[in-house]
Amino acid sequence: MTPLEQLPEWQTFSQAAHQAQVNLKRLRLVQAASLTLDFSGQRNSAQLEQAAGQLLTARQFEQWQQQLLQGEPINITENRAAWHTMLRAPAPIAEVAAERERVNAFIRNADATRRWRHIVHIGIGGSDWGVRLTVNAFGYTKRWRNVRFVSNIDGHAIASGLANLDPHDTLVVIASKSFATAETLLNANRAREWLKAANVCDPEGQIVAVTANPEAARQWGVPSTQIFKLWDWVGGRFSIWSAVNLTTALAVNSDVVAGMHAGSAAMDQHFEEAPWQQNGPIQMALAGLVNRSVLGYGSLNIAPYDARLSDLVPYLQQLEMESLGKSVDIQGNPMTVPTGPAVWGMPGTDAQHTFFQWLHQGSDGAPVDFVVCQQADHDWQEHHQSLLANCLAQREAMLIGKDFDQARNECLAQGHDPDTADWLAKHRVHQGGRPNTLIVLPKLSPYTLGALLALYEHKIAVQARLWGINPFDQWGVEYGKNLATNILNALQAPDDPAQQPDTLDASTHHWIRQFQQKH
Ligand code: F6P
Repeated sequence: MTPLEQLPEWQTFSQAAHQAQVNLKRLRLVQAASLTLDFSGQRNSAQLEQAAGQLLTARQFEQWQQQLLQGEPINITENRAAWHTMLRAPAPIAEVAAERERVNAFIRNADATRRWRHIVHIGIGGSDWGVRLTVNAFGYTKRWRNVRFVSNIDGHAIASGLANLDPHDTLVVIASKSFATAETLLNANRAREWLKAANVCDPEGQIVAVTANPEAARQWGVPSTQIFKLWDWVGGRFSIWSAVNLTTALAVNSDVVAGMHAGSAAMDQHFEEAPWQQNGPIQMALAGLVNRSVLGYGSLNIAPYDARLSDLVPYLQQLEMESLGKSVDIQGNPMTVPTGPAVWGMPGTDAQHTFFQWLHQGSDGAPVDFVVCQQADHDWQEHHQSLLANCLAQREAMLIGKDFDQARNECLAQGHDPDTADWLAKHRVHQGGRPNTLIVLPKLSPYTLGALLALYEHKIAVQARLWGINPFDQWGVEYGKNLATNILNALQAPDDPAQQPDTLDASTHHWIRQFQQKH
């Protein structure tokens, strides 16, 4: 694959992007699987659109898209498919359908017997954020089971995760694709000890595992009938569609999982069939490339205007940054254009009172994805209209800005004298032209949340194809884990010279010594 910067189509695209403007007079809407995407706040021009089409062709995007959707091994550094779409397909392959039925049967039985008032979901990263997001989005009303999420290796996490629960009525869900993640195994050991300490007669009978490594789960002690399959062709951060969501089905209901499958499958169909000009994931990807690799914005802000979506940002942080945080292309050549942005954010309107000052008047600023639901699930119209008004207003302020004269007139109108107005106005100018996309969900439902998450999954895949990077591996997470193992050995065996790593920098060496003293 030709490095991006050497592609003439890239030169044309970036030139057109530099010349393009945000056209405030033109409404640019794309309908995608019940979602409405408004790109009016992104740069656009006929030249940029033409260049985008040529760039997609130069990158043989359609061929690659088919390879992705048909489960070919496009994750070349791990020689695997990235076939998360198959997990939510209306008519999946037999083994996926069989596993889906095994999970549903387990849920039906647990519900019929009213077992497990408490669920402790132990998992981290892709085995955690999606379930947290879903349970917190849909589980805040009418449920009789309560869920505790334990991910961090910090013992305070498992301590609060198990606090005040009845061990005899608690199900422990161990979610781990690899069944080898240190945090998850340590927390699972603690949970099993807790069950045993409470004289639970069959501790393992209250433990289920969701994993692509069933043998390891068996050896750990999970009964085979309570091991639910994940496949190595599903990336952890793309696994919310799998049995990992068993906890949501228990905590809320199975309809939530089925609804998310339906919404995401509809987005898969849109992604595959809609022409690129009217294709939500592709248009989001192109806008992201302009903002990141042409205009040089270092980050992307996600602003979900819905208190129920408090975990959307960390979910998308992993999805985006673990996928696109790459600085070499698929051949291993160093990238010479910026790739995946830092992703950050917080629900609106909290974010307005936290960091929107920076978004409005900071020297860098950042593109913003505003996410909002047209309809609320409560009856307080004034609350919802205020939420919608704030979302549109913040977006408007970033788009149109406020120039010096407007600010000065404002100061004069507030009674300031001309000199003070001249001075103050400079502090009140808003640059404007700050790019953003508005994503409108008719309401927050499993269907629309499924569609929203699939939208971002496909956007990321498109961006990776255009940059020429592999979005489905995450080699960068291993080095720190390996160093942690060595340092842990040193902390646990201070008197064993063989366990003392000798390649460490002075500072790490010092603190290992300090921390060894404390034990
Ligand atoms: O360390 C990163 C990572 O491998 C993620 O990709 C993954 O979602 C998470 O850790 C948890 O991994 P597992 O599901 O194998 O325990």
